[in-house]
Amino acid sequence: MASYETLLLERRGRVALLTINRPEKLNALNIKTRQEGAQALEELQADEGVRVVVITGAGEKSFVAGADIAEFEGRTALTQRDVMTGRSLFTAFDAFTKPVIAMINGFCLGGGCELAMACDLRIASDKARFAQPEINLGIIPGGGGTQRLTHLVGESKAMEMILTGEMIDAETARQIGLVNRVVAHAELEAETMKLAEKIAEKSPVALRMAKEAVKTAARSTLDEGLRREIDLFALCFSSEDKDEGVRAFLEKRKAEFSGR
Ligand code: COA
Repeated sequence: MASYETLLLERRGRVALLTINRPEKLNALNIKTRQEGAQALEELQADEGVRVVVITGAGEKSFVAGADIAEFEGRTALTQRDVMTGRSLFTAFDAFTKPVIAMINGFCLGGGCELAMACDLRIASDKARFAQPEINLGIIPGGGGTQRLTHLVGESKAMEMILTGEMIDAETARQIGLVNRVVAHAELEAETMKLAEKIAEKSPVALRMAKEAVKTAARSTLDEGLRREIDLFALCFSSEDKDEGVRAFLEKRKAEFSGR
């Protein structure tokens, strides 16, 4: 695997662990991190041995404390637009077809919360804290926060978080649907890896179809989504994995999926 200046990338069997590695800045996302994040996702997409990706932040304190605020100073509107719309971490998620789990080990703020929301599942330490604090800087979320947060938690809670910029704790984040599970800080890695490995055993073809189908729900009408679901369901019937899954059930054994 390639080596990166701001990231650590590690393979654990079929699971890849991607760590944002700027702990001295609470893993704030600077331009380099965003570019390398996009590059790492491309590498992980191409690697057939990787079935699930886990993303976390280095150190004990923070997942990602948002965009690197130091880079905002003196930046023009057009430069900022280029940063957000060019080849970047958030746009790379749109092309990434494998399941991604955010392992949230601490502060999950602004662009960090947006990064977690761009993932498919979110497991939080009981020490994690969440906010969209951009309003305190005289700006608004720009990495999908106004849209993804609203889809996940509903307009009322999203509006409250975005207009106040206030932090919420992990249990509140779970209650409103922002995270899937909260676990004791010491158990975070073990619990997240257990979940990642469980998903990594499934058919990569079916995982990809399932992810695309679920993502379609937020981006289409119900009729369009239902039609897309049928197409993706039918597409599963062209895979060896579907034959293996059905045969294994009938033969009362565990399926071994190849991803073909
Ligand atoms: N961008 C750039 N640097 C950041 C950062 C960010 N988003 N968040 C933290 N840092 C830096 C701090 O400037 C500090 O650097 P320094 O040691 O060189 O001064 C270092 O990370 C440690 O942060 P510090 O503020 O000292 O830690 P804390 O425990 O006192 O506070 C936070 C933690 C998360 C409450 C606080 O850092 C904070 O509010 N960060 C900004 C969060 C934010 O607004 N994010 C959205 C950006 S759009």
